Amino acid sequence: MASLTVRQLDEALKQQLRLRAARNGRSMEDEIRSILREAAGETEAPPQAGPASRAETSATAVAPRLLLIVGGGIAAYKSLDLIRRLKELGYAVRCILTQAATQFVTPLAAGALVGGPVYTDLFNPDHEFDVGHIRLAREADLVVVAPATADLMAKMAQGHANDLATAVLLATTAKILLAPAMNPAMWANKATQRNLAQLKADGVTLVGPNAGEMAERGERGLGRMAEPLEIAAAVERLFKAENAVLPIKGKRILITAGPTHEPIDPVRYIANRSSGKQGYAIAAAAAEAGADVVLVSGPVNLPRPQNVDVVAVESARDMLAAVEKALPADVAIFAAAVADWRVANAGAQKIKKRPGAATPQLALAENPDILSTIAHRSDGRPPLVIGFAAETENVVANAKAKLARKGCDWILANDVSPSTGIMGGDSNTIHLVTAAGVDDWPPQSKEEAAAMLISRIAATLTGDRH
Ligand code: C5P
Repeated sequence: MASLTVRQLDEALKQQLRLRAARNGRSMEDEIRSILREAAGETEAPPQAGPASRAETSATAVAPRLLLIVGGGIAAYKSLDLIRRLKELGYAVRCILTQAATQFVTPLAAGALVGGPVYTDLFNPDHEFDVGHIRLAREADLVVVAPATADLMAKMAQGHANDLATAVLLATTAKILLAPAMNPAMWANKATQRNLAQLKADGVTLVGPNAGEMAERGERGLGRMAEPLEIAAAVERLFKAENAVLPIKGKRILITAGPTHEPIDPVRYIANRSSGKQGYAIAAAAAEAGADVVLVSGPVNLPRPQNVDVVAVESARDMLAAVEKALPADVAIFAAAVADWRVANAGAQKIKKRPGAATPQLALAENPDILSTIAHRSDGRPPLVIGFAAETENVVANAKAKLARKGCDWILANDVSPSTGIMGGDSNTIHLVTAAGVDDWPPQSKEEAAAMLISRIAATLTGDRH
């Protein structure tokens, strides 16, 4: 039976489907299943979600297509179990084994589990005329690399294409999920970490590696491949996120990020420890979901996210002016750590240290509250205004008070006590405070938190919730 994915539908059909799905509280895939059932004269099934429902209906024509690339590491044996898990979830799985992978698992074993041919050669005449590398790349909704060896990651980071796996990875426009597996020393090596940073910047998603025993006796550390069930769960998350974010497409999202610098004189300033990572991750996730993103950024040391219009500012007052200029917006997210005060008597010249002279006194003046100013606008207020609350105590209670005081719709509250390592760190634990209540999100990377926020915004824009 031919297979069809939501992605292949034209925009008008997709829009109709999206509206129908939102009205019925179903995912787009479940809506298609329901339409097919209606057409077949079956009685309407209640909306279902999650792995079991997809497995039950995997015979329909909408099974998402997953291409699994197995790299050459001892963890390859777990990939056989991964194939089973993915098929149980209803995915249509194709499999590529690298030459090195065939040393650990046979094409026969993988083929038996996939229920079809397994691809190993870039220049296999049978496959090139039938399912060549470009078709393998194009006909995948998601590419999973498990195990992703240090060598495969290095080749991907460099854009090599000298075998089937790397050629497909270079040719695909689908999302890529990597499950790294290697010896802890290889994982910690600067070269691997450099490649990893490059791959993350290129938009690749990661699951694992985990810490624990290695295959080699006596070896322990970070480098074990994530378990098949964990990888399958990461696949599910990616697919859900992809379906959920469609309503963001074309929406204008305004984001502030980073610290502000408040001048004392032309060479000195007051600043804070904000790295800008969370705001930048949100901008990247929004742009990836197809939004029209403007990022008003204080001084940070981060690469510009792709497809984002970045407006660089220094002080709080500059930031407010840039935000007002960037309006109107459908959604405004205020992630910047704006200085509450500026120096009222900032010197036009460098303040000099003079022997015997009194120590200079800095008089402070209050800065405008950008979030509150925008949230209280009577005209041109973005329909969804989101703020952050970085607290060191009574996190949720303070965030609730802030929601009311600042007049915004949502507050993302987090504990930034030095012991949490959140300020400037790579992970975040967020409590989403809205008029409807509090959602406690799990500890996760700033990228994952950004993806979760974008999914939640998408659900709101379809009218599912606020
Ligand atoms: O009052 P507090 O600084 O805790 O509020 C944090 C929230 O308000 C963040 O969303 C921050 O970006 C925003 N804010 C602002 N302008 C200020 C101070 C905070 O936009 N001057």
